[in-house]
Amino acid sequence: MNTRMRRAAVAVAAGAMAVSLAACGSAKEAGDKTKESSGAAKGDAIKVGLLLPENQTARYEKFDKPLIEKKVAELTGGKGEVVYANAKQDATTQNSQVDTMITNKVDVLIVDAVDSKAIAGSVKKAKEAGIPVVAYDRLAEGPIDAYTSFDNEEVGKVQGKALLEALGDKAKDGQIVMMNGSVTDPNAKLFKSGAHSVLDGKVNVGKEYDTVEWKPENANTNMAAALSALGKDKVVGVYSANDGMAGGIITALKAAGVSPLPPVTGQDAELAGVQRIVAGEQFMSVYKPYAPEAEAAAKMAVALAKGEKLEGVTTSTVDSPTTKGVASVLIPVVSLTKGNIKDTVVKDGVYSIDEICSDKYAAACAAAGLK
Ligand code: BGC
Repeated sequence: MNTRMRRAAVAVAAGAMAVSLAACGSAKEAGDKTKESSGAAKGDAIKVGLLLPENQTARYEKFDKPLIEKKVAELTGGKGEVVYANAKQDATTQNSQVDTMITNKVDVLIVDAVDSKAIAGSVKKAKEAGIPVVAYDRLAEGPIDAYTSFDNEEVGKVQGKALLEALGDKAKDGQIVMMNGSVTDPNAKLFKSGAHSVLDGKVNVGKEYDTVEWKPENANTNMAAALSALGKDKVVGVYSANDGMAGGIITALKAAGVSPLPPVTGQDAELAGVQRIVAGEQFMSVYKPYAPEAEAAAKMAVALAKGEKLEGVTTSTVDSPTTKGVASVLIPVVSLTKGNIKDTVVKDGVYSIDEICSDKYAAACAAAGLK
């Protein structure tokens, strides 16, 4: 992948230097009235514009948004404000949302792009209006200031490895179906290449789809088509890039009368996905701890809004097709299967056992030792 990790020690040293350099800088600029007064007036009362891409995947409004709001409040003594908009999968809507944020004079933008290329012009506009931009989760193109996400190629590898493990020596006994995410999302490309790097040569890929807008219903339609084309008894496993689509895929498998269900992968550790894992309908998900990602974005945004340096906050750099050496924080991921639900999402307080083990899942929970 195109990420150049720097040693943490170097990053820390650079951070310390940046702080002292920044201190020198502000002393030198003390004569500059405009800078002084706008900086001082800004203080903690900053306005952070938050743009998320869709709301059919549970993570955005259940985790990302409240976690970012909480951290911004914490970092600004409750004085910072988050102005929020969700693009509901529409890149044009997201571009107008950026315009509105510019008109509303936000001090910084956090953007999770619907379409990483289509957003580039808006990123440039924001920058020209003096608004720094943090790319969140998906690497937006254009002159962004910072980026935080997970190691997305690794997500694909983790999914591929889990599928191989589930297939065991039956990996080539039939076909697998690959259901990738949306082509407008650069993460989808990384999930797909990570998965292929592990699966190629070890399985037969019977059908493969890039799913329009990451929509579960599109995954459902594609899965039904794959079953008719390949034969429902020939599909030994399904690579699904996320849990939302896994839901649509499993519904299609059941509707076609496939039994037992083949192993299906996922991502996001959505509550419905975790429950399907407990029930044995979905083999795995990828647990991406959203708190550190959201907190990194909030830290970057608050620092940028206040005109502070990022060196102490970021730990690596990434290159986008348009912008090289973007200061970044990339967070590791965990493969989630029935055996480690308790040690991951439950331990981290993402879900309680009560939430996972509702009446419908009580027996499966008991059998899985979740209590
Ligand atoms: C995110 C996933 C999410 C998908 C669909 C990706 O960019 O990293 O967590 O499931 O988009 O919204």
